[in-house]
Amino acid sequence: MAKIIAMMNQKGGVGKTTSSVNLAACLAVAEKKTLLIDLDPQGNGSISIGLSKEKFAGRNIYHALIGQISLRDAIYESELPCFDICPSDNNLSGAEIELVSLFARESKLKNAFKSVEKDYDYIIIDCPPSLGLLTVNALNAAHSYIVPMQTEFLAMEGLAQLLNTVKLIRNSLNPDLELDGILLTMYDSRSGLHKQVANEIKTHFGDVVFNTIIPRNVKLAECPSFGKPIILYDIESKGSEAYLALAKELILKERFKGNSKENSKETSAKNNGSSNINVEKEVLLPEEVLLDKLPALENINIDVNQI
Ligand SMILES: Nc1ncnc2c1ncn2[C@@H]1O[C@H](COP(=O)(O)OP(=O)(O)OP(=O)(O)O)[C@@H](O)[C@H]1O
Ligand SMILES: [Mg+2]
Repeated sequence: MAKIIAMMNQKGGVGKTTSSVNLAACLAVAEKKTLLIDLDPQGNGSISIGLSKEKFAGRNIYHALIGQISLRDAIYESELPCFDICPSDNNLSGAEIELVSLFARESKLKNAFKSVEKDYDYIIIDCPPSLGLLTVNALNAAHSYIVPMQTEFLAMEGLAQLLNTVKLIRNSLNPDLELDGILLTMYDSRSGLHKQVANEIKTHFGDVVFNTIIPRNVKLAECPSFGKPIILYDIESKGSEAYLALAKELILKERFKGNSKENSKETSAKNNGSSNINVEKEVLLPEEVLLDKLPALENINIDVNQI
């Protein structure tokens, strides 16, 4: 059964599409069967992997969401063997309005996945830059989410709103939704500002931030115009290295989580047999922990002498 991940941030231009396309391609190279869902009416992800708009105009995510066709019939192969895509175009902007009047409008994507989720190891959803009904559909359908974030001043702006939206969705629709991590993107190691922002975010948010940082890399900006993910465009680039490292980090995280779940099951089975200690603890949601730490970060103390 696929692990479904939403790449989300309502801020525009933070690297959601670049990260969705290239993470998906790198997972595929690691022989994980991966489906990329382009859930953004801008359709940037679809074009980035070389699909022509004419090819998918009559069969794409829009038609699957409004129930005209099965999601399976809106899936196209890419140049890479384990990498498929369900594309989108600007028709999808109409879907947000059309869905409003439909029953279970926030579960359309979740229901559409039922026909394909056993065919994949990973499904990556590239969300639009908003917290509207499309993103709500993504978060309802996903097991987890990744938040790409630029290492810029005001990086945290809007994060409280994002975390509160996720909390609402956990409480009402998808209680098992997990945070995979915050992904720092477009990092320029020569910039003092980027260094300071990245350090502050890592210090305050700790484990919640991926170890892998995506560097600013001109090859990553070029490859969409050639219709190729970075690993097919320039395997030796820093961008390729970074997204391969991210895919590896994600796969290992998953494996570690699987193992620790097994261990905690064993431990609680043992405890149940031998003691009556009440092990129930109040566990804070990651969003609550982050919201708690956010005020300290909202106005990151930039030392201008270091920039
Ligand atoms: N690591 C990087 N190095 C250089 N350029 C990058 C990098 N990541 C993204 N870009 C470029 O920055 C721009 C914005 O990136 P992208 O489209 O991935 O962001 P987005 O969050 O999906 O945007 P939107 O909110 O509009 O959907 C694009 O032109 C992309 O090519
Ligand atoms: Mg995008």
